[in-house]
Amino acid sequence: MPPGVTVDYNESDHALPKDELIKRLQGKGGLVCHIISAIDDEVLSVPGLKVVSNVAVGYNNIDVAAAKRRGVVVTNTPDVLTETTADFAFTLLMAAARRVVEADRYVRAGQWKAWKWDLLWGADIHGKTLGVVGFGRIGRAVARRGLGFGMKVLYYDTVRADAAAERELNARPVDMDTLLRESDFVTLHTLLSADTRHLINERTLRLMKKTAILVNAARGPVVDEAALVRALSEKWIAGAGLDVFEEEPAVHPGLLPLDNVTLAPHIASASNETRIAMATLAVRNWLAVLEGKPALSPVS
Ligand code: GLV
Repeated sequence: MPPGVTVDYNESDHALPKDELIKRLQGKGGLVCHIISAIDDEVLSVPGLKVVSNVAVGYNNIDVAAAKRRGVVVTNTPDVLTETTADFAFTLLMAAARRVVEADRYVRAGQWKAWKWDLLWGADIHGKTLGVVGFGRIGRAVARRGLGFGMKVLYYDTVRADAAAERELNARPVDMDTLLRESDFVTLHTLLSADTRHLINERTLRLMKKTAILVNAARGPVVDEAALVRALSEKWIAGAGLDVFEEEPAVHPGLLPLDNVTLAPHIASASNETRIAMATLAVRNWLAVLEGKPALSPVS
């Protein structure tokens, strides 16, 4: 730390309760936090607070409008995690399609007695249609991986990508319902907002192909988890790969017994390199604001 800067660490691996957080923030100029900390107007009202630096690209844990009103700068960690998060979304896609986790469980359980012709058939990935919901940095990075697998790319976003990006990724913009009807894989990369909450719900799940696989490495509440449990149990769709959940760390109990879903504990950006890069960017943002300089990556 530069001279004159003192830091009060939360050494535990859980978020401080709000009253304790507010107490410990007294007299401090900035907060570096994770997505498990809910930063609402009350927290933001701590006198002298200048910056809240989230160690994540998503920032739905922070009341950004209240921060703006109070003149508190909010920052996130875009770019440094794009490729790693896209790697993991594609990992979930492949694991779900080729039933990798089921295969691992089968071998470990000692069930593999002989080679079998009809054992654990999955879905091809190459040549299929990839539907990307949210065509920002991460969505495009997933699309690029899809291109490498010879996939056809459709995308849905409220903002149309420029022609060069569409050309580079051979990506066709479509409306949400068309994307759901035509895609073999649907991968979610939107921010969580009032508009995207439960974007995937009973109606939209029923539009998907029976053979389709849904991947969510964005935010849990983009998917109505109860509807997804029904879709997977009743085979409206073939499978899912989920890194995020509606009530993390709780997982809908209906998902746990299902073989056609691959579950991960919100680790899409968790590579050695990327987690260090995220922490470094978050601290740089926090320091910049405390030193009266512009933040490197303010959210608005
Ligand atoms: C992780 O979920 C992030 O938003 O970076």
